[in-house]
Amino acid sequence: MPAAPGRVLIPAPRIAARIRDLGAELTEAYAGRDPVLVAIMKGCVLFLADLVRAWPATMDIEFVTARSYRGREAGPVEITMPAELAEVVPGRSVLIVDDILDTGRTLAEVCRAVAALGPEEVRTLVLLAKQRPDEVGERFEADWVGFEIEDRFVVGYGLDFRGRFRNLPHIATLAD
Ligand code: IMP
Ligand code: MG
Repeated sequence: MPAAPGRVLIPAPRIAARIRDLGAELTEAYAGRDPVLVAIMKGCVLFLADLVRAWPATMDIEFVTARSYRGREAGPVEITMPAELAEVVPGRSVLIVDDILDTGRTLAEVCRAVAALGPEEVRTLVLLAKQRPDEVGERFEADWVGFEIEDRFVVGYGLDFRGRFRNLPHIATLAD
């Protein structure tokens, strides 16, 4: 049977309300700081589009690509950074934005790559963070988290399973 979305975990109005709150928090946290948002493609495109409209500040928006999943299996993290990042980042306050924190390897790798370009600081924001079982140990944690969710594979609102379901307006589980 082909994969299909299962039950709705976070409906669209809850996502919108949380993003309004995050927008207000970030407006305060970055007041007068002219941040650079570094968005991790492709999963964060819907989140980023809504977030920046809830955050009326002067900012740059840059994109990097990170791929780690092959279907449900996590593989090595491959990062692709555009050359102009090296011109924009030095001396700036960078906020890395991703869709979901699972093992934390993607955010850790992107942070390391961005930190090497000489920013004033690097902080991180994810829409979702999966709760990890206690025995998993230390994980890279984000500075801002939209929602903590149970440790299962989710799709929608930018998140995909093999390229599909990014366009759902809500976050859903993947049907078993
Ligand atoms: P990490 O490196 O294990 O933290 O995984 C982060 C990346 O894996 C995210 O940027 C997502 O693209 C992808 N990912 C992790 N969990 C899920 C999921 O449940 N659904 C869809 N993509 C996921
Ligand atoms: Mg992703």
